[in-house]
Amino acid sequence: MGRLHVLDHPLIQHKLTYIRSKETGTKEFRQLVQEVAMLMAYEITRDLPLTDTTVETPVGLAHCKVIEGKTLALVPVLRAGLGMVDGILAMIPNAKVGHIGLYRDPETLQPVEYYCKLPPNVEERDVIVIDPMLATGGSAVAAIDAVKERGATAVKLMCLVAAPAGVQRVQSAHPDVDIYVAAVDDGLNDHGYIVPGLGDAGDRLFGTR
Ligand code: PRP
Ligand code: URA
Repeated sequence: MGRLHVLDHPLIQHKLTYIRSKETGTKEFRQLVQEVAMLMAYEITRDLPLTDTTVETPVGLAHCKVIEGKTLALVPVLRAGLGMVDGILAMIPNAKVGHIGLYRDPETLQPVEYYCKLPPNVEERDVIVIDPMLATGGSAVAAIDAVKERGATAVKLMCLVAAPAGVQRVQSAHPDVDIYVAAVDDGLNDHGYIVPGLGDAGDRLFGTR
């Protein structure tokens, strides 16, 4: 069973409060989502393998560590996943970025794939699928299906806010995938929105409605 990591560092909780507030406008919302993504990147990369190296300091030889060869692939789910990418890239500038285009049919709540472009050699990379909202879990499961169908074997899922049903759906469809979230909320309303959640993440990030 994939592990659920709730990253509830005080800085993340504080920023998430303002992300949730309906008083927060587009500019501040976007900025806060980037900042939380940056903080979450710190934890999601905790198990990256290190290798030994040496460097000369101005005073002598230092035996140090650097992150081992293979680079990460960040795969935001369009649109809302885009809002978290720059924050993660600020911490991991060498990561490659793929994109999966999915939208959730408002009637059926089923995800519809309209685009997928991944970096080369995806099978050799640690892939992080990124979407702020894990609601019914349909989009996340479809996004993980899409990266696995194209060869990915090491996949993590990173979200801001999750509903318990979405977590369970991903865990049962993809038991090998660890899930990283800033909060797990109460549940879903009749429209499949997370309650209390933060509303429509894509609309709030891009100022659409
Ligand atoms: C939102 C969100 C997720 C999905 C979550 O996307 O960004 O991708 O819904 O819902 P689920 O867990 O029930 O599948 P949306 O379909 O609104 O598209 P958008 O990002 O283009 O606005
Ligand atoms: N998509 C969103 O943007 N928000 C939700 O609460 C659920 C799905």
